[in-house]
Amino acid sequence: MMDNIRLVEVGPRDGLQNEARPLSVEDRILMIEGLVAAGLRSIEAGSFVSPKWVPQMAGSAEVLAALPKRDGLDFPVLVPNMKGFEAAHAAGAGEIAIFASASESFSQKNINCSIAESFERFEPVMDAARQAGIRVRGYVSCVLGCPYEGEVAVSAVVKVAERLHRMGCYEISLGDTIGVGTPKAAAAMARAVAGEVPMDRLALHEHNTYGQALANIYACLEAGVRVFDASVGGLGGCPYAKGATGNVATEELVYMLEGMGVATGVDLPALCRVALDTCARLGREPISPITRIIAAKG
Ligand code: HMG
Ligand code: MG
Repeated sequence: MMDNIRLVEVGPRDGLQNEARPLSVEDRILMIEGLVAAGLRSIEAGSFVSPKWVPQMAGSAEVLAALPKRDGLDFPVLVPNMKGFEAAHAAGAGEIAIFASASESFSQKNINCSIAESFERFEPVMDAARQAGIRVRGYVSCVLGCPYEGEVAVSAVVKVAERLHRMGCYEISLGDTIGVGTPKAAAAMARAVAGEVPMDRLALHEHNTYGQALANIYACLEAGVRVFDASVGGLGGCPYAKGATGNVATEELVYMLEGMGVATGVDLPALCRVALDTCARLGREPISPITRIIAAKG
């Protein structure tokens, strides 16, 4: 029943975009190569956003260009507008992700425009991606709460998700940007979106700020979601969502899934070693206590 689960590793993007100490292009390539060796197959590799806004993601073109090109390996990158698309295309991106928000205030703070304006920016990106044969993933932020507005109506989430799907995104990642969701709310939100977008097109993107990420994932798994974003070492956060911490740690998610009999294809000790190496370069500890325990065993 649960053998069709897909993991999307967002560590090299979400994990690094908010760190005080930026990682060099070389270190980001090493990190991604380590993740590939550990068995991850879909790894968000960077962002083509303004380096004035997110300096940590500068050099994403060099990162992308250095990565292995093999069937079955995807390295999506974030693209907010045509300028970002052109740079990502020139760097050889095979997959991009556009990112919208269910909350007006977060849209303004994060990408400096309204939700409606963001869709005006996405239209030409979708057209150009279609012509170039580039797959597009779509994010919806603030699906379970907004750092500026608090509660976000499920109807607003459904509307944005449906629009991204209708304009051609192959998958919609539902972002609990500040990790405020709890399991029943998360599952209800996913089911509501699945009323408009097929369940097998949905992904859940959990931040773990309030320690609810795995519980929310489990609830959404039971509701039928099969794709989950996670970040090695539990790194992550958004510079425009103050106080939000990292994504669910990939190693904790893999541990849970494997324990439930779901084969993830991930070598857990190898993944934990990538987490420790990356955290050492960042000068911080991995979020989860299991990272060191598993790495020591492996
Ligand atoms: P803006 O200032 O409104 O844009 O920013 P602009 O078109 O007026 O351009 C201003 C300057 O930026 C110009 O440069 C442009 O050339 C440049 P200047 O003339 O001042 O030297 N510029 C760019 N440079 C490089 N790449 C580009 C680009 N576009 C314009 N693509 C913009 C609008 C979207 C660019 C800006 O707001 C931005 O970069 N925001 C960054 C947002 C971001 O990366 N946030 C974090 C990722 S989203 C997230 O974490 C949530 C997620 O994880 C899901 C979840 O958890 O919910 C995905
Ligand atoms: Mg995020």
